[in-house]
Amino acid sequence: MSTEASEARDVRVRDLPSHAGRRVRLRGWVYNLREKGKLQFLLLRDGSGIAQCVLLKKEVGEELFEEARALTQESSIELTGEARLDERAPGGAEVRVDGLRTVHRAGPYPIGKKEHGPGFLMDHRHLWLRSKRQAALMRLRHELIQGWREFLDREGFFCVDSPIFTPNACEGTSTLFEVDYFGEPAYLTQSGQLYAEAAAMALGRVYCFGPVFRAEKSKTRRHLTEFWMLEPEIAFAGLEEVCDLAEGLLRATLRRVLERRRPELEDLGRDPAVLEAWDRPWPRMRYSEVAELLGAWKEEGRLDSQFQPGDDLGAPDETALGEHFGLPVHITHWPAEVKAFYMKREDGEDSPVLGVDIIAPGAGEIVGGSVREDDLATLERRIREHGLPEEAFSWYLDLRRYGSVPHAGFGVGLERTLAWIAGVEHLRECIPFPRTLQRLRP
Ligand code: 4AD
Ligand code: MG
Repeated sequence: MSTEASEARDVRVRDLPSHAGRRVRLRGWVYNLREKGKLQFLLLRDGSGIAQCVLLKKEVGEELFEEARALTQESSIELTGEARLDERAPGGAEVRVDGLRTVHRAGPYPIGKKEHGPGFLMDHRHLWLRSKRQAALMRLRHELIQGWREFLDREGFFCVDSPIFTPNACEGTSTLFEVDYFGEPAYLTQSGQLYAEAAAMALGRVYCFGPVFRAEKSKTRRHLTEFWMLEPEIAFAGLEEVCDLAEGLLRATLRRVLERRRPELEDLGRDPAVLEAWDRPWPRMRYSEVAELLGAWKEEGRLDSQFQPGDDLGAPDETALGEHFGLPVHITHWPAEVKAFYMKREDGEDSPVLGVDIIAPGAGEIVGGSVREDDLATLERRIREHGLPEEAFSWYLDLRRYGSVPHAGFGVGLERTLAWIAGVEHLRECIPFPRTLQRLRP
């Protein structure tokens, strides 16, 4: 390392272009190494991006050139050099190296350039996260979380977290994970909603955001047993406010990603025009209209599905709707039989519930929400009808005893939303360490 050179400034790869002409220090891992005669091209990744670093033998000398040659994929290094603008370099800048230090020389890296199967990659998830695509997904995931919190903050929502150990079910008893809570059975939460309702009665507009758990016994590409859900809840609100807020939040998310995460979209091979096209009003339909559409498509032989009016939608139905509209669709006013106990009915016992699902192209259901039953006697009856243990819900019923108000909210799945935006087939790539029916490791 030349001693007379100016002090190098610590820079992250994404900030390189703004340091053009200055001496910088980068710290990271070797992504790739390529030799071309007396030149070496080293791709360094530091988590913020990948930078091309160039070593010229005549500039750096024999010893340093050999040190670089001995590097292996994923070795950790520190290097210094001048940042230069270069349109041909990824990210628009490169570093002309004048100093290099190996922090740790990596052993033969298990994930190579060749294609690996998903099972192998998932077994090496702790290393796979370093790949360009997986890192881009994690940065996008972060962007969604930031965007959601900032959006709701601007809309006057308070974050009030819900517990993870709970004494009762929220979304049906068939997907509960039971744990031994000091000799008493407890369950990992399926949704923070019931607690968010209590918080909404205290603070008006609230949300909770955290991991939720469902013992999903289906092994589909859209189901995780542990996933993250954002759940806004609003006092004095109805179905329209829920639809407006969910659509507003998700369209703001699209714009934010387009504004701030273009490089990640590029790393994922995602055409930004796809996202742009979704930023216009989304169709809103009642379940009964959707059922008619699906019935007609089945009759015409355009849709291969088991769907019967009254049923929940299946994957082929969701796919067909996504393709037909080319936009996310709000489906409202569902048959009570396929929805949760807490949903309020539109108009009397035999009417549909005031619930909404948003079905997104390629990703299926990303939002589930509803107006909540706010009448004490009706809600008590529902709890009995669903065979739920009444004593576990006594605190929840208090919300209908002391100043009950119409209120509504929704839950939006983080991984489903990321899959939709990023165009990812399988949810397992949308969470750092996925948990599914078949996977608890790493
Ligand atoms: O429709 P769900 O079950 O709704 C609720 O849990 C309500 N309590 C939310 C509320 O009103 N506060 O789930 C909401 C969303 C779904 O639309 C989907 O995005 C996601 O959570 N989700 C899953 N994501 C990954 N894996 C699973 N197994 C999921 N189940 C639901
Ligand atoms: Mg749902």
